[in-house]
Amino acid sequence: MDKSVDPHVGRPVSSSLPEGAVRNRRHRDHIKDLRSAPVASGVSLPGPDGFGRSRPDDDRPTDRDRHPGVGTSVGHIKRASAVFPLDAYPEARTPVTTLPAPQPTSSIDPSRPIAPAEQPARLDALEAAVRSRSDLVPRIGIVLGSGLGGLADDVEDAVAIPFADLPGWPAATAPGHVGRLLLGRLGGTPVAMLQGRFHVYEGNDSGLVVQPVLLFGRLGAEIVLLTNAAGGVDPAFGPGTLMVIADHLNLTGRTPLHGPNADSIGPRFQDLTDAWSPRLREALKAAGVAEGVALEEGVYAGLLGPQYETPSEVRMLRGLGADAVGMSTVLECIAARWAGLQVCGVSLVTNAGAGYSGVPLSHEEVLEAGAEAGPRLARVIRRFVAGLA
Ligand code: HPA
Repeated sequence: MDKSVDPHVGRPVSSSLPEGAVRNRRHRDHIKDLRSAPVASGVSLPGPDGFGRSRPDDDRPTDRDRHPGVGTSVGHIKRASAVFPLDAYPEARTPVTTLPAPQPTSSIDPSRPIAPAEQPARLDALEAAVRSRSDLVPRIGIVLGSGLGGLADDVEDAVAIPFADLPGWPAATAPGHVGRLLLGRLGGTPVAMLQGRFHVYEGNDSGLVVQPVLLFGRLGAEIVLLTNAAGGVDPAFGPGTLMVIADHLNLTGRTPLHGPNADSIGPRFQDLTDAWSPRLREALKAAGVAEGVALEEGVYAGLLGPQYETPSEVRMLRGLGADAVGMSTVLECIAARWAGLQVCGVSLVTNAGAGYSGVPLSHEEVLEAGAEAGPRLARVIRRFVAGLA
């Protein structure tokens, strides 16, 4: 493929903005660059999986818990007619080695509160489980959001570890479907990649939701790239808009740092002034230019979900300074910064915010926009990651 031409827009973009680009770009480049701190090991795990209470199976997430538009589901995927067929059947495309590692998960309660002080022991166990399968040290950890499942195809020599094989992680998906950690190389750069993520709206505790990014750090990654599906709060951000995250509003009412701290990982009072790395944001935008893909920039508002917003809430979010809204990402960013990782991210806007179009939000519209824009974002990410090598 001619990398200088975006098939989506069908013409080079070096001389003009690509079709669909928002021209009234805002610049929020005041945020200083980020520090990078080591991630320390902690204490030993108290038990086989460190979890206490059991939970009935019928209380576990189902496919109804899937995030709209998110092909990398953490629930059971039953719909063969999903708009993201490639996401629904990743094994058909991904040349990976899945090593068997039976792990009883029936006693895991994903809603059980996990204090920061508990994370070191849990990360010890997670790190050991991964290291028994792969010695790859990732440069970057990537969380795949909406429509990006195809990016996993490009991971070379990938080792795939189902979530259920990792201690303390619930069996996120039906066998043979997405919900796994990949370790391999993307464009020559060693990467860890999460296909599927844990959302709070599924009933997961914040401490569980952020364990994947903390694990990235344990495995040696210094950078985390978070992607998600989002609604457009800036009226100019219609379906298909790709937005580099410049900052966030955590409106979930949760924090992964609640409870006794683990000083071995990060400080009690975490600074978030520079949460989204200006340096990495520039690198993402440069990758967009190189690929001829339009990238906007803006503020992501993270809400609990799973319901969409009311039109009044969208207006409120706009007044608060948000440009896009979704149901993930903010807690992962907080935890990653706490652990000294550099963070960057991109929202894939799948729909205009509630109330803008005058018609109810359409699930089909969300899925279609994700399917259309996912491959464009994948190209940007591939270029960005290759530049890290
Ligand atoms: N709101 C919240 N989350 C979303 C939306 C939305 O409009 N679209 C995709 N994820």
